[in-house]
Amino acid sequence: MNGNRILCIITVASLLALTGTATAADIPPGAAACSGCHPVRAGVDTTVPRLIGRDAAQIVAAMADFRAGKRPTTIMDRIAKGFTEDEVKAIAAWFAAQKD
Ligand code: HEC
Repeated sequence: MNGNRILCIITVASLLALTGTATAADIPPGAAACSGCHPVRAGVDTTVPRLIGRDAAQIVAAMADFRAGKRPTTIMDRIAKGFTEDEVKAIAAWFAAQKD
């Protein structure tokens, strides 16, 4: 009885661990929304700058400036306000790690 319960807890724990690993490799929450405007592919003709391969700290700083109203913006102030500092860091790290 007790043994079964322990086995069950171990199974659930390993499933959670597996899911955790799979999610970490995926695109972080929110990052997919950025690519609606910021092109993922090179050679797309748009005035919206690309974020792929950008320095993560630069993206985080730009988002903080947008949020604080320190940087001229049409739409990014509203978008930046929708994300926490940690979410922005995860998104920025993901974009920085992407390659063409
Ligand atoms: C609705 C379209 C749209 C979406 C969605 C969007 N952006 Fe933007 N982004 C823009 C525009 C337009 C600019 C130029 C500044 C402005 O007008 O607000 C910009 C500028 C930026 C800049 C500054 C780049 C530079 O070189 O000046 C960063 C960084 C940025 N966005 C990050 C993000 C991130 C991160 C997301 C996703 C959470 C995102 N954006 C989602 C439209 C968008």
